[in-house]
Formats: sequence, structure tokens, C-alpha cells
Amino acid sequence: MYGLVNRAIEGLVCEKFGKESWQNICRRAGLGDPSFLAMEAYDDAITYSLVGAASAELGLDPAAILEAFGTYWTSYTIEEGYGDLLSMMGNTLEDFLDNLDSMHTRVGGTMPELVPPSFDREPQPDGSSILHYRSEREGLAPMVLGLLKGLAQRFDVKIHIEQLEPAGKGHERFMVRRA
Ligand code: HEM
Repeated sequence: MYGLVNRAIEGLVCEKFGKESWQNICRRAGLGDPSFLAMEAYDDAITYSLVGAASAELGLDPAAILEAFGTYWTSYTIEEGYGDLLSMMGNTLEDFLDNLDSMHTRVGGTMPELVPPSFDREPQPDGSSILHYRSEREGLAPMVLGLLKGLAQRFDVKIHIEQLEPAGKGHERFMVRRA
């Protein structure tokens, strides 16, 4: 994944647990003292080992780390200059979810090696939505949970999220209902 992701993990850890924890995590992950470049593509294995090492160092479940990361991501990307792009993608949570693929397509304009996930919102008769999430990567559904929570904060709405049974390999589904 692009270094932007690894840098965001660093930002989250340093903000919540301090720089020393980050250094310990990097040591555990066998990375020494890395300085990731936001616009350079790194092996996915580096990101997964950072999450694993953070889990061991902080005594937290990897899923909890991924979820916190997802929530952090929505504010981190604004700090990193993606605020205008995010603002263009919709004024409501539902519109925004409809535009996630075009948002990543735009991101891909400056990150040619991007391998983005794909999202598809299926509106339900009662006003709720089923969000389909497809990815070539494994185990990142908790990140999507955190992202949805971060987006609900962004749009100042309260939502219930329920992870449904996967619809197939690499195809997770979430029921998103306004509270
Ligand atoms: C403008 C803001 C955003 C930027 C710049 C951005 C960029 C990226 C980048 C660089 C990756 C790593 C993939 C790679 O390097 O190949 C990624 C992955 C991902 N993004 Fe975004 N993204 C943004 C917003 C969002 C939002 C709002 C969501 C909400 C659902 C989202 C969902 C994901 C997920 C779930 C992944 C994990 C990769 C996977 O599932 O395969 N992103 N994004």
C-alpha cells in the first residue's frame, strides 16, 4: 500500500500512545526506524506487519487497531490535503458512500499503483443501506467499520452498523441504518 497508509498508522500510534510505542512497534516489525514516503507504494506485507506488531506491543486486538485506524483515516486524509476531494464527494453520508469508487479513482490519478477497494451501496426500502465492500486484500473489514464511524462523525449523523455474512471471497457487506 502507499506510504500514506503506513504514515497514518504512525500518526495514530504517536498521537494515542507516543513516539516510543511507535519505535517499539517498528522494531517488533523488523523495520528499524522507517521513514515512509506518502506517495511511494510499499509491499502490503509491511502494513500487515505494522498492524500485527502494534497489536502485540499495545495488547490490543488487530481488529480494534484496524477499526481505530479507519476512524482516524477520515481526519488524517484531510490533514494531508485531501479535504477538497472529500468535500466534492457528497453532502450526505449516502451520497458520499455512492461516490467512494470515483473518489479512489481520482486518488489513483496521482497514485498509479493504487489497488483500491470497491464499494457499492444498495438502498433498502426502509431507508437503510447495504454497503458492499470488495477487496483483493484480506482481513480489512474492521477498517471499514471504523471508516463508517468516522464518516458518520464527519456528516454529524448517528448510525447503526451491522456486519452481515460475507457474500463471497473478498466481498463483505454492512447494513448501515440511521439511528
Ligand atoms: C481522500 C481520501 C482518501 C484517500 C487519499 C485514500 C487513499 C487510499 C490508499 C492510498 C489506500 C491504500 C491502497 C493502495 O495503496 O493500494 C486506500 C485503501 C483503502 N481505502 Fe481509501 N482513501 C481515501 C478515503 C477513503 C474512504 C473515505 C474510505 C471509506 C470507506 C476508504 C476506504 C479504503 C479501504 C477499506 C482501503 C483498504 C484497502 C482494501 O480494502 O483493499 N478510503 N485508500
